Amino acid sequence: MNKAIPVTEKIYWVGVNDRETDLFESIWPLPHGVAYNAYLILDQKVALIDTVKITYQDSFLDKIKELLGDKELDYLIVNHMEPDHSGAIKALRAVYPRLEIVGNKKTVDFLNGFYGIKDGIKVVKDGDQIELGQHKLSFYLTPMVHWPETMMTYEEKNKVLFSGDAFGGYAALNGSIFADQLDLAFYEEESRRYFSTIVAKYSPMVQKALSRLAGLDTKIIASTHGPVWKNNPEHIINRYDRWSSNQTEEGVVIVYGSMYGNTKVIAEAIAENLVKEGIAKICLYDAARTDLSYMLRDIWQYRGLIVGSCTYNTELFPPVAALISALLNRRIEQRVLGIFGSYSWSSGAVKALQSFYDNQNVKCELITPVIDAKYAPNGDVITQCEQLARNMAAVVKK
Ligand SMILES: Cc1cc2nc3c(=O)[nH]c(=O)nc-3n(C[C@H](O)[C@H](O)[C@H](O)COP(=O)(O)O)c2cc1C
Ligand SMILES: [Fe+2]
Ligand SMILES: [Fe+2]
Repeated sequence: MNKAIPVTEKIYWVGVNDRETDLFESIWPLPHGVAYNAYLILDQKVALIDTVKITYQDSFLDKIKELLGDKELDYLIVNHMEPDHSGAIKALRAVYPRLEIVGNKKTVDFLNGFYGIKDGIKVVKDGDQIELGQHKLSFYLTPMVHWPETMMTYEEKNKVLFSGDAFGGYAALNGSIFADQLDLAFYEEESRRYFSTIVAKYSPMVQKALSRLAGLDTKIIASTHGPVWKNNPEHIINRYDRWSSNQTEEGVVIVYGSMYGNTKVIAEAIAENLVKEGIAKICLYDAARTDLSYMLRDIWQYRGLIVGSCTYNTELFPPVAALISALLNRRIEQRVLGIFGSYSWSSGAVKALQSFYDNQNVKCELITPVIDAKYAPNGDVITQCEQLARNMAAVVKK
């Protein structure tokens, strides 16, 4: 992956694998790295689609120079200005001063604001086209997937959709850039983790973009992260469609926060009873010890979600509060919700979970009973766990 890799005869992947950054956006863990994909189209006019994070600009420029020799780079198409893709723009301009930067009206302010670039910008509107020779590029504005200036670029000859972050995923590319040559199950999980952390909040905009793009004959999805979907674009389109429309599978995610084990006992009892009720897919997470991104990933897979917390200074246990805040931010909906908690003097955690459920942006179905246990869970509490599991299983299986 140290050289440019052909996607089609004249379109090259010139991206990089980042195996050094620990946290994407300084928050989401990257145990398997991440790829910043960029693409070069060789024609009478040469166009580059997006760049890479600034830390990788040297090897990125080397790939481009090797392909171009002393040829000019005519256009840089900027689908998205987040610095993981725009970071090398200044360096690129320094090497190719005649380069014209192509973006939409909103891109212009970002170029100036981030990099002080005011000149040599070609502003395109939705539906505009640029002819490169054999290749023709069309631009589709897809605002808020996941930034305001986001757009996608469609190449007609080979029917390639350069989709920006949409259809992207975490994980560096291990030996091939093509999804059908890679461990699909692994990359799908990492794509769902990426979707749930980065894109899920903008699900309605993803749906809007999907219905606009449905009319395009797309043979290749070339996103800015994750594999290139060359022979199976429908695979990732279908997944993004499902995730952004809250289509979930039979299964339950249980997340709990517990200091001394009382709340944990309830979580375990619910899980055991879910298994007895025939639920095969159960993810049970200690919120304090599991990164948020893995909980979100699985919440975007399964229909059932059961959240429990001990009461901590009258409130939710902070790691559970972080999950609840992330779910509110993403306007979680269409999940079957169970809640439980524990306290020893005046309950607080369950009240907070109840008000999460009551929030107008949370459109989930609440399953009874709501369990609020004082001191260590007794026999009555365990009976309530059986009831909650039975009721949850019945709805999740529907
Ligand atoms: C630092 C701390 C703060 C707590 N704050 C409250 C509280 O505000 N209200 C309450 O009823 N219990 C409070 N508790 C008691 C616990 O919520 C209660 O013992 C619960 O059963 C602990 O669950 P766990 O064993 O899952 O950690 C607090 C306990 C600790 C250690
Ligand atoms: Fe982005
Ligand atoms: Fe990105």
